[in-house]
Amino acid sequence: MSNFTYITTLPVLPDHYINEGMAANFQLKFRPCSYRVRSSFFHSKLATMLRNKFGTCWAEYISFKAGSYYDWHCDFSRKCALNWLINTSPRSIAMYRELVLTPPGTPTQTILFDMEEINYTLYHPVVLNTHHEHAVINPGPEDRILLSVTVENVEYYELLEWLSQNPMDTYD
Ligand SMILES: [Fe+2]
Repeated sequence: MSNFTYITTLPVLPDHYINEGMAANFQLKFRPCSYRVRSSFFHSKLATMLRNKFGTCWAEYISFKAGSYYDWHCDFSRKCALNWLINTSPRSIAMYRELVLTPPGTPTQTILFDMEEINYTLYHPVVLNTHHEHAVINPGPEDRILLSVTVENVEYYELLEWLSQNPMDTYD
């Protein structure tokens, strides 16, 4: 099973969220260490419905600065994410990895991985399983920016199922 799913039951992200994210004043925050800022998507109909159904839900823009590398990790504050890519940069890539297993007893290093790119389409939603190791590389020259919605207590497959049962034409 894939660790990410392109969502076809939700619309393209409207301009006002894209503009908000592009103009946002990103702050370097910790836990996790990343450039982030709150999004008004918190007040959207979709976020409100998710909050009513699953509890705590928030929305933020995340910036992967030009010439940066976001190391391999699993998210500790959530099990999945609903993301829209709103700005990209040549050669930037978000990806998952899976260790290539060797036979028991083989002297080896954990050095060889299969990888799968999360091939976003700008402004289109993707749900990601964030309990599987992922990373972002952005050699630049532009900042790579996401809108990311977190539903704290929902599993990846649970969110996919709910979204498929609650198609929407508008977010607001
Ligand atoms: Fe992450």
